[in-house]
Amino acid sequence: MVYYYLEVKCYFVEVLFMNILYAASEALPFAASGGLADVAGSLPKALVKAGHNARVVMPYYVNTIKPEQKEKMHFITNFTVPVGWRHQYCGVFSQEVNGVTYYFLDNEYYFKRDNGLYGYFDDAERYVFFSRAVLEMLRHIDFHPQIINSNDWQCALIPVYYNLFYRNEYGFDSIKHVFTIHNIGYQGQYGLDLVKDMVGIPPCNVNILEYDGDINFMKGAIETADKVTTVSPTYAKEILDPWFSHGLDRILRNKQYKTCGFLNGIDVDLYNPETDPTIAAKFSAKNHKGKAACKSAIFEEFGMPQYDVPTIAMISRFADHKGFDLVRYVFDDIIGLDMQAVILGSGESQYEDFFQEMHWRYPDKVGFYRGYNPVLAKKIYAGADMFLMPSKSEPCGLAQMIAARYGTVPIVRSTGGLRDSIIDAGDNGIGYTFQSYNAGDMLGAIKRARECYSNKTEWSKLVTRAMNADFSWDSSAKLYIGLYKELCGE
Ligand code: GLC
Repeated sequence: MVYYYLEVKCYFVEVLFMNILYAASEALPFAASGGLADVAGSLPKALVKAGHNARVVMPYYVNTIKPEQKEKMHFITNFTVPVGWRHQYCGVFSQEVNGVTYYFLDNEYYFKRDNGLYGYFDDAERYVFFSRAVLEMLRHIDFHPQIINSNDWQCALIPVYYNLFYRNEYGFDSIKHVFTIHNIGYQGQYGLDLVKDMVGIPPCNVNILEYDGDINFMKGAIETADKVTTVSPTYAKEILDPWFSHGLDRILRNKQYKTCGFLNGIDVDLYNPETDPTIAAKFSAKNHKGKAACKSAIFEEFGMPQYDVPTIAMISRFADHKGFDLVRYVFDDIIGLDMQAVILGSGESQYEDFFQEMHWRYPDKVGFYRGYNPVLAKKIYAGADMFLMPSKSEPCGLAQMIAARYGTVPIVRSTGGLRDSIIDAGDNGIGYTFQSYNAGDMLGAIKRARECYSNKTEWSKLVTRAMNADFSWDSSAKLYIGLYKELCGE
């Protein structure tokens, strides 16, 4: 903890700030594959705004980070990192964005890859290297965190290595660790034989990582971090249940005393219909007029005729837990409610093929973009009327908040962060919700939205409420700060 004493007249005022290192395998504006990057790009910014010295550390993805971003980086230092019996080079580059210092850990052998951020045969080794390198970096830079907040399985070995190798070293002894779970479906599970060669943990300590006969990186972090957080209060409870936990409920129940959930916020500067340069016309909660031009722009993009009916949108990775089997089951009924649909996403081929087929079946009513396209995604958020997110499980979900901010009414299944962020319009909320994982119930919620849409005054009130909802980081950042302070002994 760092204390400053400022002399103001004859009083002493105490200003307290913390040094926080936020470790993530992806962060906006540099590299993204999902919501983690949004959070790593916006929570530290909110912490800085609150007066703390928060910095981000991430891998230097040579082929993903844009050349103009690379130009602004400066080299700080280099050193070697133990990876099993080897020592691997690590360079550190740095750059400041929106008041937040980012550190980039460079090793081209691990992070110069052609096909995205993850999914390589050696992912385990790549993030063993990264996690160890984050700690080694602290010997070489002029920044001494009191808190390291590590995220997801890729950074899960940071608290493990800290406890095994660093905690008694001079300069390291007072660091506290928070581990945040963004999705418990991805745990970093590997065969036990990895330990000997590459993880570099003494055999007598392997039990820290061992779970159900495998090595499980996330289990190691749950075991060794001082606090475990997840990205919504409801998800924090859900993961104690085997239906949600992907096998980790046993260990999480044991560690419940140090686990909690804080709802994510979104970057309200990045997602702002009043200033967003990528959308066709600007609009606000007070004046929705521009939204009509944004709607027409979608139909131009998709080369489809625009009818005087509501447009329902989906923007997602096509993964099993996102609820696309419900959508598939009643898709004809949704279109039968006299609606148009636009879908953007990629992932499991069964869903990609399904939406492609629906586009062929209803060429004037269903638009489909296969892939990840953040600019088109924003245009859809701005121009659509309703946003469908029927997830089977959803740790937090950011899309429903972004949609609401652009006046696109969310229709969600009440699970995880969807439950914590979207209250039903029937309870004076900002969207439509359904409880059971059931296609009929989902269709029921869509029908209620459709009915409301036919009443222009009611719909306009709903859109205003959705746009006025506060999804900024202001309140959740305070919760993180409270937790960090508690750990620092304040
Ligand atoms: C993961 C989760 C998502 C969450 C995001 C950011 O992508 O699946 O629900 O919003 O992380 O925490």
